[in-house]
Amino acid sequence: MSAQLDPLPRYRRMTAQDLDTVMAIEAAVYPHPWTRGNFSDSLAAGYHCWIMECSGRVAAYTVVAIAAEEAHLLNLSVAGPWQRRGLGRALLGFVLKLARDYAAARILLEVRPSNIAALALYAAAGFVEIGVRRGYYPAGAGREDAAVLELALA
Ligand SMILES: CC(C)(COP(=O)(O)OP(=O)(O)OC[C@H]1O[C@@H](n2cnc3c(N)ncnc32)[C@H](O)[C@@H]1OP(=O)(O)O)[C@@H](O)C(=O)NCCC(=O)NCCS
Repeated sequence: MSAQLDPLPRYRRMTAQDLDTVMAIEAAVYPHPWTRGNFSDSLAAGYHCWIMECSGRVAAYTVVAIAAEEAHLLNLSVAGPWQRRGLGRALLGFVLKLARDYAAARILLEVRPSNIAALALYAAAGFVEIGVRRGYYPAGAGREDAAVLELALA
């Protein structure tokens, strides 16, 4: 069991002013982080980009694209010091509610098969693997497959 959330998180939309902070977290939590352009493109595209704040600090963030009754979870990250305190689960719950609110019938995501923490988080939420994208991610000198996970929302 994760610890109780203390204090309770606050959700707000991500803006361009958040990108320095988001990029610092992104670089710390991924070996192959998104670029600043990935985030600014997501903001410009009107994707659902949300910040989770705890004690007035950016603790986590997410990027979700929703179109044609399908949601695609593109990024979900918790800052290192805030991990394993239930924030990832809470943020995923927020994403699922958002997707339902925008009438998505299902939500998809890609995840590295080596990402044990994320796989456990998504499995606990009911996601199931529906496919593999070969060589989807950069990894060291080569590439790593992506597992494609799906959760029905209807
Ligand atoms: C994956 C991630 C979002 C989880 O967030 P978190 O706030 O640490 O997770 P929570 O505390 O909410 O834990 C929820 C569940 O996830 C799983 N989990 C989280 N961290 C784990 C770890 N290090 N090892 C194994 N399982 C883990 C557990 O099942 C956990 O439930 P439990 O506490 O009852 O055991 C976070 O580790 C992270 O941001 N990682 C780097 C970015 C990333 O990989 N994002 C996902 C890309 S697809």
